[in-house]
Amino acid sequence: MSDQVIAVQQLGKIFRQGFWRKRVEALSGVSFTVAQGTIFGFLGPNGAGKTTAIKILTGLIKPTSGSASIFGHAVPSATIMKRVGFLPENAYVYPYLTPREFLEMCGRLSGLSGQDLYKRAERVLDRVGMLYAADRQVRRLSKGMLQRTCLGAALIADPDLLILDEPMSGLDPVGRKEVRDIILEEREHGRTVFFSSHILADVESMCDCVSILRRGKVVVEGDLRDLLRGEVLRTELIVRGEDKDCALFSEKIVAIEGVKSVPMAHGLRIDIEGEERVPDVLRLSFDFNVRVAEVTPRRATLEDLFVERAIGGGRELETGS
Ligand SMILES: Nc1ncnc2c1ncn2[C@@H]1O[C@H](COP(=O)(O)OP(=O)(O)O)[C@@H](O)[C@H]1O
Ligand SMILES: [Mg+2]
Repeated sequence: MSDQVIAVQQLGKIFRQGFWRKRVEALSGVSFTVAQGTIFGFLGPNGAGKTTAIKILTGLIKPTSGSASIFGHAVPSATIMKRVGFLPENAYVYPYLTPREFLEMCGRLSGLSGQDLYKRAERVLDRVGMLYAADRQVRRLSKGMLQRTCLGAALIADPDLLILDEPMSGLDPVGRKEVRDIILEEREHGRTVFFSSHILADVESMCDCVSILRRGKVVVEGDLRDLLRGEVLRTELIVRGEDKDCALFSEKIVAIEGVKSVPMAHGLRIDIEGEERVPDVLRLSFDFNVRVAEVTPRRATLEDLFVERAIGGGRELETGS
């Protein structure tokens, strides 16, 4: 299909390690597709196989089985890599170059030159927040600054597809937000972004689609909105009132199954499993001298899904046999 930027089918990778050539199955039967103009989060804990899949996509290593293509061309393909900006995991930058020199070098390798190259380097340095340190040698930069420089290198040739391996690593909260903004801007301009992360919460707000990997297999995948639309896991209520009224109310409602209550200053925090018993609690609040200030339904997060499908599923298998 023309709107598929990346297509991966039944990808498998077995590494042979050490003197005894011990088998390490890094990927087994991994399939997914990435649509044009979307942000795709490739998630999973450390060691899940994310970098291995990215190395296959970028042509650094060959798969043991399965196939992968970018813009309809089987990887590796030199032609399509011109349209791809790549941020490797723990990217390396020559220590005696400055970020500006490094970006200009990457730009030249991508065929940019002259004024075009200088202007573009300047703009990209600004976008990744490195303009202020553009002329310091890389060896004097912090890990976060290095990461920004490498992200700049991935952006220098204005690629149609960005492949970013852990783009948030080494960044502080401000840096993480800036990277998030850059990724969102790229999508606004119709570009496609494929990136990996081991921090689920970091990516929840921006991905269109996700694939969560665990031990080389996809355990959760799909449209993020569909995945998280699910039922309300629990409901949080904040109730205000005099301490003695709150205590009386609390005593009454904790008798209801699945309802917990924690006292706070001038009120209570009530935790209700699911949402079915919320009306009961609200109705009871009228009989006591208390006021419901907040009702917040909590839906499943990616983390919940991951725990349920990957880790919970695994435990079930172990105890079931
Ligand atoms: N070159 C290699 N030789 C042997 N094992 C490897 C090699 N590269 C990765 N692995 C193993 O493959 C698994 C997946 O690694 P990786 O793709 O780096 O995971 P992630 O990026 O999700 O943290 C790990 O168990 C890792 O130890
Ligand atoms: Mg990795």
